[in-house]
Amino acid sequence: MCGIFGIINDKKNQAANTVLDGLKKLEYRGYDSWGISIIDEGKNQIQVDKHIGKIGEAKTNLPPGKIALGHTRWATHGGVTDNNAHPHLDCTKKIAVIHNGIVENYQELKEELLVKDHKFISETDTEVIAHLIEEKSKSKSIKEAIFETFKLLRGSNAIAVLDFTSQAIIACRNGSPLVVGIGSDQYFLASDVPAFLKETNKVYFLNDGDAVILSNSGIKLFNIETGKEKNLISQILDWKLEDAEKNGFPHFLLKEIYEQLKTIPKTTSINEKQIKELSEKIKSGYKVILTGCGTASYCALATKYFFAQIGIDAQAIPSYEFMPFSKFIDEKTIVFAISQSGETADTLIAVKEAKKRGAEIIAVINARGSTLERLADTVLSVGAGPEIAVVSTKAFTSQLATLYLLTTAVTDRLEEGKVKIINLGKVLTKWLDVQSIKRLVSLAKRLMDEEHIYLIGKHINYPATLEFALKIKETSYVHAEPFSAGELKHGVITLIQKGTPCFVLASNDEVKDEVLSSAAEIKARGGLIIGVAPFESNEFDVLIKTPDLGDLTVFANIIVGQLLGYYLGVGRGADPDKPRNLAKSVTVK
Ligand code: F6R
Repeated sequence: MCGIFGIINDKKNQAANTVLDGLKKLEYRGYDSWGISIIDEGKNQIQVDKHIGKIGEAKTNLPPGKIALGHTRWATHGGVTDNNAHPHLDCTKKIAVIHNGIVENYQELKEELLVKDHKFISETDTEVIAHLIEEKSKSKSIKEAIFETFKLLRGSNAIAVLDFTSQAIIACRNGSPLVVGIGSDQYFLASDVPAFLKETNKVYFLNDGDAVILSNSGIKLFNIETGKEKNLISQILDWKLEDAEKNGFPHFLLKEIYEQLKTIPKTTSINEKQIKELSEKIKSGYKVILTGCGTASYCALATKYFFAQIGIDAQAIPSYEFMPFSKFIDEKTIVFAISQSGETADTLIAVKEAKKRGAEIIAVINARGSTLERLADTVLSVGAGPEIAVVSTKAFTSQLATLYLLTTAVTDRLEEGKVKIINLGKVLTKWLDVQSIKRLVSLAKRLMDEEHIYLIGKHINYPATLEFALKIKETSYVHAEPFSAGELKHGVITLIQKGTPCFVLASNDEVKDEVLSSAAEIKARGGLIIGVAPFESNEFDVLIKTPDLGDLTVFANIIVGQLLGYYLGVGRGADPDKPRNLAKSVTVK
């Protein structure tokens, strides 16, 4: 939700272009508008270039310079207009502010500033910050003015300020992510590492309450509350440059779908000590609650089915529906918070509530250095590497594989579980050959003009229908509605007409026949039945045959949805990496 990127000491003296390139790597965080501010030594005020729309192949006419700060926006307050695009300037044009989050009390702050004659150009909450800093800097140092302003902001926010006078970038974090990159004589500030990964993998992730000042002389870390300097302990990430590049694929989404062939088996290098300790607690009777949002909530639901298979009654509660059930949490509860980014506001709220009630928090996350990581008692890092496409794919399957392994550990079958996951990787690799892709592309062409698609599945294939449908909706904007196989006939079957496409997700399991009966009922009403299953059936008009992987067949069934969504999206002219209205990490409620 909004991307921030700034540089100090640009080696090439082309800071605006460097920031533009970095913002292109962060576009997944918001693509309503973009903007860059720069200190041009020949001028006595900050220069700004900002535009609505995706950054795409944009160029900037900003002059050369060594210091610049930019932003990609996912609009919250104020429509998508050039004026509302960040950065926002104060009245003197010597302070430029960019922001990720929502200033909940911006109206009251704005009223006070209007009385003092500040002129506002945008409708955003962010512009208030620029004028507040201007006002406070009349009697205080810029550092004090920024820290004091930041303390006045209600809500979850990260701000970054380009200050003309001190030639510095000053940033504060409370709730929204910020990371600094330490290059050789160049320093970076970003919402996420891919922005500067080309230059450095030496990083420091800011904690809530941290501020940094980036200047010619380096990076200084501060505690916002006390204003005192802190020791900055950096870390080296094992991410490689190609993790943030498309590497010959037309889109990140397709690259990440294929990466699953490696990232799924990689989950077997799980921290065994952690997994065994957790499984002992679960065996000893701890309540298990799984939570997350969107795709991560479907991972929670699928894991609930895996737990049921081993006789454990786990609860799966979407984080945005967590509160009514939080009263059942006590000290003998383990909450698995599933999140790609570790920054999803609804998930964090649920986790904080669970923590308050004494639960042990296990973060099942992909990104590094997140808020969730800091809140958790244990971090199960799923190691899928940077997920750049907005739509989640490889993080989801790695989370599900990790949690599947946990369920095998609970029944003392971890080694067997690992063999199955490694085999899953091998079988998927063989299956995803040219022929499989051709069949999917031809199915996508057949469905290209459909406006409604229905999906049914039962038991573990029910959460699979939810995830499959979400991939179709997000990537192609086709309305795809998932149901448990049993549910359709209780009402929604009225919507089936001659030719209505209906996917039937199935495995060779105990409910296969029931699912096929539901398929027959739809077929009898003229529906077009598309089987996604490891077997043939007379009920299927079309079959996308998946490999028979026992209880892990569901992985292949879901990958069909990812690929179909991708090819449908491309065919219908959507941008598969950046679906409209979406942002990669939803850091607002
Ligand atoms: C779907 C998708 C979203 C996220 C959800 C949670 O493709 O990406 O539904 O899964 O916003 O995000 P994280 O996992 O970062 O908490």
